[in-house]
Amino acid sequence: MNSPVIGQFPAYRPRRLRQTPALRRLVSETRLNVAQLVLPLFARSGRKLRRPIAAMPEVCQFSPDELLREAAQAHELGVPAVLLFGIPDTKDDRASGAYAQNGIVQRVVRSLKKELPELLVITDVCLCEYMEHGHCGLVQRAAGNARILNDPTLKLLARTAASHAEAGADLVAPSDMMDGRVRAIRQELDRLGFTETPIMAYAAKFASAFYGPFREAAESAPQFGDRRSYQMDAANANEALREVALDIQEGADIVMVKPALAYLDIVYQVKAAFGYPTAAYSVSAEYSMIKAAAANGWVDEKALTLESLLAMRRAGADILITYHAADVARWLKTG
Ligand code: PBG
Repeated sequence: MNSPVIGQFPAYRPRRLRQTPALRRLVSETRLNVAQLVLPLFARSGRKLRRPIAAMPEVCQFSPDELLREAAQAHELGVPAVLLFGIPDTKDDRASGAYAQNGIVQRVVRSLKKELPELLVITDVCLCEYMEHGHCGLVQRAAGNARILNDPTLKLLARTAASHAEAGADLVAPSDMMDGRVRAIRQELDRLGFTETPIMAYAAKFASAFYGPFREAAESAPQFGDRRSYQMDAANANEALREVALDIQEGADIVMVKPALAYLDIVYQVKAAFGYPTAAYSVSAEYSMIKAAAANGWVDEKALTLESLLAMRRAGADILITYHAADVARWLKTG
């Protein structure tokens, strides 16, 4: 540590630098900036549809027209990027809606890129919303149990990512946690000429109870079993570094840690070990917990949200994915 002054003369008095707002701002080590924010949005087909998510106050599933309005508003406030999730009309056991040329995400990407060309459109690449069983990969059922198949799933993920890129997505973000998916997606993108489309990999994604409210929002809860055979064990930090290393080797341009607040040690280590652009995904329950406590008058929503996001920045996150993105943009503007 570079603190040689402690215990020496003249006495170091930390409060000297805390006397006024201007002084505190001057020496502040970490800042929140609107340019770091990504707003997740949920799309489903229809018109003039804003379907609220009970467990995530103020978050909705939007029809494409309403989603465009919502994205435009956030963009107007300075939010540079959205992360899209789709809820298809029908599900099957091959996730065909995920890579349909006219699928919900593909349609929304086209409309966003046409109407708001400056807005960065990131697409979540996963199959769970499109599978009738709600798992992120193909399932093989045999005598009373079920396995999530890794390698056969890669083709579908690559196809999904390519269809997003074809629709005009600026970045693709695989969240499925199958082994080898970043390589499979990179190869398919390159083969089709999308050599400049970056991959933001959900590199260290933990099997987490913090995703509970999201599964209502995305209608993607597994119908049997859980995701522990593909998402990471919350106990493992060394393994998280191996996962990130692997994704980087396979071609990830941005690496993500998810959830965020309970995993700041992982964010810190990932940034320190690789120095890659690092995203922290403040997931659904992080949002819901703040909303619920605030609705009871127990906490200050704005202060708690800004402090949580600042902590993610301090831990090393460059990019903050948060359902509060538009609120944060507003708060940063008005002080
Ligand atoms: C899809 C996916 C999930 C989230 C993002 N992408 C859910 C899951 O893995 O079960 C969670 C996001 C959130 O909770 O806000 N695989």
